[in-house]
Amino acid sequence: MQKLNQIAEQAVLSAEQAVSLQQLDEVRIHYLGKKGQVTEFLKSLANISPEERPLIGQSVNQAKETIQEAIQKRLEELKSAELAKRLAGETIDVTLPGRGHAEGHLHPITRTIMRIEDYFTQLGFDITGGQEIENEYYNFDALNIPAHHPARAMHDTFYFENGLLLRTHTSPGQIRYLEKKQPPVRMIALGRVFRCESDVTHTPMFHQLEGLCLDKNICFSDLKGILKDFLQFFFEDELAMRFRPSYFPFTEPSAEVDMQCVMCKGKGCRICKNTGWLEILGCGMVHPSVLAPLGVDTDTINGFAFGVGIDRLAMLRYQINDLRLLFENDIRFLQQF
Ligand code: DAH
Repeated sequence: MQKLNQIAEQAVLSAEQAVSLQQLDEVRIHYLGKKGQVTEFLKSLANISPEERPLIGQSVNQAKETIQEAIQKRLEELKSAELAKRLAGETIDVTLPGRGHAEGHLHPITRTIMRIEDYFTQLGFDITGGQEIENEYYNFDALNIPAHHPARAMHDTFYFENGLLLRTHTSPGQIRYLEKKQPPVRMIALGRVFRCESDVTHTPMFHQLEGLCLDKNICFSDLKGILKDFLQFFFEDELAMRFRPSYFPFTEPSAEVDMQCVMCKGKGCRICKNTGWLEILGCGMVHPSVLAPLGVDTDTINGFAFGVGIDRLAMLRYQINDLRLLFENDIRFLQQF
C-alpha cells in the first residue's frame, strides 16, 4: 500500500510539472499504460491472498483515478494556456481607426452640367445630347450658315475624310430636336464640341449648352428673363448683365451677353481684364430661315436660342484660372472639388 501511494504521489507530481501536452501524455503512459507503473504494481501482487484482493483492488482503482484526475486537470490547464497564447498573438485592437476607402467624386464639369440640368428641368425643358459626329447640313447649312459663309471659316472644323465632321457647337441639337418635335418646344442640348484650336484659353474639345424655346408670343424679354434667372441660380449671386448687339447667322436679332465679373464684382481684375465684365454667352431670336425649312409656321411661332460655354461657367464658379486644368485629369487638381 505504501508503494502504491508513492507511485500515485509521484505520478500526480509529474503530471503537475508537465510543460507540454506531449510530456503529459508521456506521464500517462509511464503510469497508466499497458506496461505502466500501476499495471506493473498489480502484476507484482500475483500471489496475494483472496481475502486481501478486494481491498487492494479498490486501492489500485482509487490510485488510478487520482492519477487520471491530475492528468485531466493538467491537460485543461495546458490547453487553456495554449489558447490564451494563440489569442494573445492574434489580438485585434477594435479601437484603431478604420483604413478608409478612397472615395470617387464628380468632375467639376459633370457637376456644372448637373447644375445646369437641374435648373432647366425645373422649367420644363427637355434635355438632349445631340451627337458629336455631325455632317455639314446639321452643323452649318440648317443653321443658316451656307457654304462659303465666313462663319464657317471661323469654326476651325475637324473634318473626317468622308465629309463628316466633329460638331463645332451644340446648335445642331436644335435642328435634330425640331425634326422630331414641333413647337411649342423647350429644350437644352449639352455636351462636347470640337474646334481645331489650342492655347491658354482654348482646348480642341470643350463643352457647350444650347437652349431653345419656341412658342406663340415669345419675345426678347423672355430670353433676358430666363438668362438672368439662370445665371443668378447658377452663381447663387445677384450679378448684373449686359446685352451687346452681335451677329449669328441663325438668330435675328442676335446678342452677346456679358456678366458682371464674379471675381471682382465689377471692380476690374485679371480675370475680366480690368473691364469688370465677362463674356458668357451668345443668343438671339431664332431666324425664320432656320425654322421654316423644318415646317415651323413662322407667322405664329417664334422664340429664342442661346449658346453658353460650360467650361467657362465651371471655371468661374470654382475659381479655376486655367482651362486646361479641367482636361488634364491630374488627380491632385480634381481632388479639390
Ligand atoms: N453656336 C454658337 C457658337 O458656338 C453659340 C450660340 C450663339 C448659340 C447664339 C445660340 C445662339 O443658340 O443663339 O459660337
